[in-house]
Amino acid sequence: MPDQTTPHPAPPGDVLGTPAPVLRPGQITDLLQTTWGLTAATVTPLASERDLNLLIGSRYVLKISNPAEDPAVVDMENTAMAHALRTSPDLPIPTVVPAANGTTVVPATDATGRACLARLISVLPGQSAEGQPITSELAGQIGALAARTSLALQGLFHRAGDRALDWDVRRAPAVLAAPGVLDAVGDLGPRLAGVLPRLAAAAEATGALPAGLNHADVTLTNILVGPGGVTGLIDFGDMHHTAHVCDLAVALTAVLRNTPGQQPIGTWELAAAVLAGYQRHRPLTPPEVEVIGDLVVARLGLTLAISHRLSTAYPDNRAYVGQYEAGARRVLPDLLDLGPGEVARRLHLLAGTARTGGPLTRGGAAATEGQGAPGSLLERRRRVTGGPLSPLFYSRPLEIVRGEGPWLFAADGTRYLDAYNNVAVVGHAHPTVVQSVNRQNALLNTHSRYLHEGIVELAERLLATMPDGLDTILFTTSGTEANELAWRMATAYTGGNAAIIAEHAYHGSSKWTTDLSSNEWPPGYRPAHVGTFAAPRTAAGGAGRQTASGRVAAAAVDLAAAGDKAALVLADPGFTSEGILNAPAEFLAGLVDGAHHTGALFLADEVQSGFGRVGPAFWRFAVAGITPDFVALGKPMGAGYPIGALITRREIADCLARDYEYFSTFAASPAAAAASLAVLDVLEQESLPAQAARVGDHLRSRLRAVAAQDDRLGEVRGTGLLAGIDLLVGPQGAPNDPEARPFARAVLDALAGHRVLAGRTGPAGTVLKIRPPLVWREEHADQFAAALAAALTDLA
Ligand SMILES: Cc1ncc(COP(=O)(O)O)c(C=O)c1O
Repeated sequence: MPDQTTPHPAPPGDVLGTPAPVLRPGQITDLLQTTWGLTAATVTPLASERDLNLLIGSRYVLKISNPAEDPAVVDMENTAMAHALRTSPDLPIPTVVPAANGTTVVPATDATGRACLARLISVLPGQSAEGQPITSELAGQIGALAARTSLALQGLFHRAGDRALDWDVRRAPAVLAAPGVLDAVGDLGPRLAGVLPRLAAAAEATGALPAGLNHADVTLTNILVGPGGVTGLIDFGDMHHTAHVCDLAVALTAVLRNTPGQQPIGTWELAAAVLAGYQRHRPLTPPEVEVIGDLVVARLGLTLAISHRLSTAYPDNRAYVGQYEAGARRVLPDLLDLGPGEVARRLHLLAGTARTGGPLTRGGAAATEGQGAPGSLLERRRRVTGGPLSPLFYSRPLEIVRGEGPWLFAADGTRYLDAYNNVAVVGHAHPTVVQSVNRQNALLNTHSRYLHEGIVELAERLLATMPDGLDTILFTTSGTEANELAWRMATAYTGGNAAIIAEHAYHGSSKWTTDLSSNEWPPGYRPAHVGTFAAPRTAAGGAGRQTASGRVAAAAVDLAAAGDKAALVLADPGFTSEGILNAPAEFLAGLVDGAHHTGALFLADEVQSGFGRVGPAFWRFAVAGITPDFVALGKPMGAGYPIGALITRREIADCLARDYEYFSTFAASPAAAAASLAVLDVLEQESLPAQAARVGDHLRSRLRAVAAQDDRLGEVRGTGLLAGIDLLVGPQGAPNDPEARPFARAVLDALAGHRVLAGRTGPAGTVLKIRPPLVWREEHADQFAAALAAALTDLA
């Protein structure tokens, strides 16, 4: 308040209650000359609530602090500006100009004899944003400025940051509750009185939120703008230690209550832009967003209260100290009318924190209890999704809302051991994957038609795991797409028109790959151009090299009889849909021989078995020592991000390239590549393939022990953490007997009852399938075996 001349006693530190310093012109020129060696051309007073700020020429501001100002606070401001410029040199904030003697702050005496501190600060270009039109672009820049300043200060400690300022939004409940304060703000007083408990709760909640030293006054008055947007942030005079979200609330409030006048966009567009700009630099957590609305209301309430107090104390300066009041009176009723719940809901939607899920936030017990009842999630799903075309697991479908490592959590909070999900190969919600994907998504997510380091690195790392000759990778979005692409290449390369698959194979969900999925064929269906071979089942008579190549040859002969020529032989080397078979190396080698003898190419479908599951090898085909012509990858590759791949030799890919280009929009987007690179990193760093081999062997030994006690369990098979066990109707039961299907379903349900989630596979769906995240350790295998034994007891 430069025009305030009458000093009156005020408690030390009470800068709002102490008149600003006053210096005569001669004092100013002397100070500039003796301290900084400057001859002032012009001296122009600048508005201030409590200090004397003078524009010196066009390059400097002479800042004489309020006599009641704590010197430690002035030191904190200077330290903070220097710190922020060191950590974030691009931040548009002023620098402090050292005096001739090297100090950044010097003592001065004002015209009334009061001791003050003086500083010289550089001038930044631009004009105050207060009262100017705030476009969404500018609002975004303001949000970004708040976040960047907060981040630049996050490593700074200064004991003066522990201070009580009435402008601090956390003090609003106390300031507003003081006698007479709300009475003085008119009709909004009672409404504010009604929300005081809520404001107090929000202030309390900030105690658990990320905090540090903050500028805490990133307002339109302190933001400078030019034609291109923000040019500066000045006035660190309100700095204090507080939750970062309080700092954001101050900036957001200023934008929303901008001095009246026609504004280009409305409240919620402004809020959206500020939050988006802020979150580009500092993502908010749901608890932070939850309190923003209340903190904005608190700040608006403070604006009214403090404006009234200062206007009364300094009536001559009313125009300046009361300038924010009208804006506050415009915005506050709107927010109070909407109500805190609705304001919070809108802010969560804008911030992207609306859909956080999780058993603690959803009140999900009702969702699980209300199975099938009208309005339940199950009923809603039935109404809108594919009905019987897209069935759920378990007779009592589960609503799973969260995962962590080997665990899945249902909406009612129940924790399940995951014995089924291979997509979460490195464990559910692995922080490395989450962090990599989030960071890439925040940076760029396009497609694979631009040069991108991550995509190329992924290609190089995957090819490095392959045998010599497999030198080319094409990214896809699924296993289906990888197999389809292989089919197109194989027909182009061989001139064939048919494929050979195992008798109970699964290779995908498109029209053609469903035809290549014999396990899915309806009774009596046999697609044209597809031959089959018997998988290496103990009962099927041998599993040697000759046997395998002979079976492929026989299928090729059948195809030839119909005028067809095989182009591609496909096999999942783990024979998962066949019931998880222990295919010997010779059998797999025989399949390759058979394919080549008949002029076809061989594809190892690693969609289920790959990515370290068999361990310690990365690929199931590698255990057999064979070299396929194609390797199809999918499922675990992006830990849930849709990415697959087809690996082959360049000469094969080139055949398709004679007539076509291949591109799939979402395949190997930068974020998908980041997900996949993170999967590779975790597999390597945590040695999960080796662990899978060890824990898988332990699991099978435990399963055999359970099977030895119960004649409804048959053979235990598998490699690494892919294990299967035949479920039988009883002592004389045979494997893969459709009669055992109800029992198999009951076992899955009973296991779920014992908090373990497994699956079924095999020609009749009677093989218990255990294919967990590779983070399983021995104790998880033990828990599974114990749950299986208990489930069998339940079903005895
Ligand atoms: C062996 C095998 N190949 C291919 C696929 C198809 O993969 P996607 O569902 O990603 O299309 C699957 C899926 O279960 C599979 O198990």
